Amino acid sequence: MNRKVVALIVAIFIVVIIVGVIFPISNRENSRTNNSSSGETINNTVEVGEDRLVFINGGSFEMGSPETEMQRETDETQHEVTVSDFYIGKYEVTQSEYEEVMGENPSNFSGDNLPVENVTWYDAIEYCNKLSEREELTPVYTIDGENVSWDRSANGYRLPTEAEWEYAARAETTTPFNTENSISDEEAKNSENILIAYFSWSGNTENAAEIIQGKTGADVIELNPVEPYSSNYNEVLDQAQEDMNHDARPELANHVDNMEQYDTILLGYPNWWATIPMPIASFLEEYDFSGKTIIPFCSHGGGGFGQSITDISKLAPNSKIGEGLSIHYSGGSGLENDISDWLSNNGIEEQ
Ligand SMILES: Cc1cc2nc3c(=O)[nH]c(=O)nc-3n(C[C@H](O)[C@H](O)[C@H](O)COP(=O)(O)O)c2cc1C
Repeated sequence: MNRKVVALIVAIFIVVIIVGVIFPISNRENSRTNNSSSGETINNTVEVGEDRLVFINGGSFEMGSPETEMQRETDETQHEVTVSDFYIGKYEVTQSEYEEVMGENPSNFSGDNLPVENVTWYDAIEYCNKLSEREELTPVYTIDGENVSWDRSANGYRLPTEAEWEYAARAETTTPFNTENSISDEEAKNSENILIAYFSWSGNTENAAEIIQGKTGADVIELNPVEPYSSNYNEVLDQAQEDMNHDARPELANHVDNMEQYDTILLGYPNWWATIPMPIASFLEEYDFSGKTIIPFCSHGGGGFGQSITDISKLAPNSKIGEGLSIHYSGGSGLENDISDWLSNNGIEEQ
């Protein structure tokens, strides 16, 4: 399968999960009017009563990412696109919503209120049709095996087009998020609510933590295990592997008294056997990170983050994970700049 096909499949998958479902305004005017007293006006959107849909005023925008935007695809050529008015799901389709309609939950990371995942585009359009039927609307899609057609006159639920999705996501900005360059820009971060927490064995992560501290002025905690690891490289390799095999939680020598003060944790660690060292797991299990943002920085010998980000997400459920910084060993002469860019991308101002 070539790269474009893969990208397309991924794009469709993301649209399904992130955006939920929409349906044309013309067919929902009544519902909007009936519920307007409980709705709330936000810029150009109107919440439809208790529904999970928001109304989006149509308009023109520059579709595609500017050259400076992170994670831009090389084939994105910016061009003006005009979209009509539409409604869009405000939240991702949850597992409980999906299961109620489809009778099954294919997700890996289960949780009623988590977004449904592991769904194909075909699953998603079937979900739309079934949802339409439940609400006595006319299903939009005619599905015949892999042949699918879209009846534009039908009043049921459908997936947003790529243009509608991007128009809604950019929300009259030209930046990746409606809050500019980071999802968290609205929560102006300052050094008082940021904690730098790190574990380092041979000093690379520690050096990065010190630079980050110098740039932000944030509080720092080094996560030292009560029983230190061997200073011998071959021995620590074995110890780390044993930790992993036993899913160990080494006791930490130091603790954070006032975790509620912090809403952003810059979490530093070396890549050990393609994931976090287990003292990091001990740290993540010791506190409640719900609602907090964890922003990882990881020093490694070529393996990048490995599966550490996934493991952090599992250990700190209900936290947000910010954009991570991958540091090759010591990070070399570009580290200072890389750290500055990373802080800025995460909406953290330097002091
Ligand atoms: C026990 C152990 C396991 C490691 N496993 C990996 C690995 O799986 N992938 C990788 O890229 N680097 C691995 N490394 C290399 C470290 O991630 C790298 O040397 C890092 O810069 C060390 O950071 P520190 O100086 O903060 O301890 C490992 C190092 C150790 C000691």
